[in-house]
Amino acid sequence: MRVAGRNVWPSWAGLLAFGLAGFSSVQAIQLDASNDESVKKAAKIVATDMMSYYTGYRPGDNPGNLPDPYYWWEAGAMFNAIIDYWFVTGDDEYNDWTIQGMLWQAGDNLAFMPNNQTKTEGNDDQAFWGFAAMSAAERNFPNPPKDQPGWLEMAQATFNTQAPRWDTSSCGGGLRWQIFTWNNGYNYKNTISTGGFFNLAARLARYTGNQTYADWAEKAWDWTYSVGFMTPEYHFWDGASDLNNCTEMNKIEWTYNAGVYLLGAANMYNLTEDQKWKERTQKVLDSTDVFFTKSNIMFERACETVNTCMVDQRSFKGYLARWMAATTQMAPFTYDQIMPKLKATGEAAARTCTGGPKGRSCGMKWTEKKWDNTRDFGQQMAALEVIQSNLVTRVAPPVTDDNGGTSKGDPSAGGKPEQPKPDALSYEITTADRAGAGILTAMMMVLVGGSAGWLCWD
Ligand SMILES: *[C@@H]1O[C@H](CO)[C@@H](O)[C@H](O)[C@H]1NC(C)=O
Ligand SMILES: *[C@@H]1O[C@H](CO)[C@@H](O)[C@H](O)[C@H]1NC(C)=O
Ligand SMILES: *[C@@H]1O[C@H](CO)[C@@H](O)[C@H](O)[C@H]1NC(C)=O
Ligand SMILES: *[C@@H]1O[C@H](CO)[C@@H](O)[C@H](O)[C@H]1NC(C)=O
Repeated sequence: MRVAGRNVWPSWAGLLAFGLAGFSSVQAIQLDASNDESVKKAAKIVATDMMSYYTGYRPGDNPGNLPDPYYWWEAGAMFNAIIDYWFVTGDDEYNDWTIQGMLWQAGDNLAFMPNNQTKTEGNDDQAFWGFAAMSAAERNFPNPPKDQPGWLEMAQATFNTQAPRWDTSSCGGGLRWQIFTWNNGYNYKNTISTGGFFNLAARLARYTGNQTYADWAEKAWDWTYSVGFMTPEYHFWDGASDLNNCTEMNKIEWTYNAGVYLLGAANMYNLTEDQKWKERTQKVLDSTDVFFTKSNIMFERACETVNTCMVDQRSFKGYLARWMAATTQMAPFTYDQIMPKLKATGEAAARTCTGGPKGRSCGMKWTEKKWDNTRDFGQQMAALEVIQSNLVTRVAPPVTDDNGGTSKGDPSAGGKPEQPKPDALSYEITTADRAGAGILTAMMMVLVGGSAGWLCWD
């Protein structure tokens, strides 16, 4: 995932459409979050507009990729959103594209490390694809053809490539942000990478009952706390450079970091029924209050109120919503605390969906309850996530190997060599990539250098 990104557009076209739509002042999407049909109708509109960004199914296009400026990882997040969409609404319109895109991007070792991505692939990027595969297994998403790998196998392959990257050479452990030494960000250890690994390990543990995954989840949680990425109050900072042994924390607090640990903890609780995990689930959930207004509407406090949310960051709220919803199934004691937030936030998000050429693109700032003149794939996905999460009440909990799961697994998946051939290094570096890397370096210096004042405005 990028720290920096290109700006999204409030373009003249969007503004014009907004102007025109403004005259009619008709709300494009009516949402009553306690009415199933209303949620399904709203979700369909928002999903359709989200998928209108996707071109990978077209002949000659690249299955599983989103066009510029959206990075590869966000396509993995999109397929996860669609798997959930199918499961909660029953609408299978996008299933074939999802199966095609995921199989394509799984790559040779099935661990979502296609050669095309190794120039920039982070552990967190890989994890978001691994989550999609895990969700497909947990939801009994239609399995790939028999001669193709299974969803569970892909999630296991992702895990099996990440576990050996657990790195004790600095900071006492953790996962680095970047996978490959030659990438900017290799010296950064971050919460979303370690948290992604934790989340996946916890879910694999519950799904398969294999203790190895549970042990890794314990280890990842403990390290996150001991290094200080998680505070004693269960807040999550972004990460730290390992050049000074993770002593200078980058104290930005993102919604998705809390979310990724929340669902992992809930899975560990469901698996072990240990009070320790119940308490952790509860405490992480309580700490997410900082991301909600008094009227229960979610906002991205690190960037939203100062209008600095970059392209990746515009999608983050969606993952907190997704993982809160899933948490109500793994740890039903959280239900009463979570659902009012998803309801209020879902309804607020729907009210922002009046922008763009069709007068129904969703805005970034749900707290405003009206379109904020921006359109972007990630914020469209985030709106879909929070709207559809209101249906979680109506659907069955995730399956397991022993209890309804049909996905083909392989505990040793991902074993094929992951290091790309040296020619991965000789990929032609385009101007855009260079510019991206430059911005990234500058950002890392600001962030890791400890003068991230503009980001830590809070
Ligand atoms: C990698 O990029 C090439 C060239 O754009 C494309 O043909 C191929 O399908 C891509 N592979 C994957 C897995 O995306
Ligand atoms: C680096 O941090 C780890 C964990 O906090 C600690 O165990 C280790 O001793 C530290 N190393 C140095 C050189 O300070
Ligand atoms: C684990 O999840 C199942 C399915 O939602 C639920 O019925 C059960 O109560 C959960 N276990 C605990 C300890 O909450
Ligand atoms: C459990 O998972 C580990 C780690 O992937 C694997 O090596 C082991 O074979 C698995 N055990 C079983 C019984 O599947």
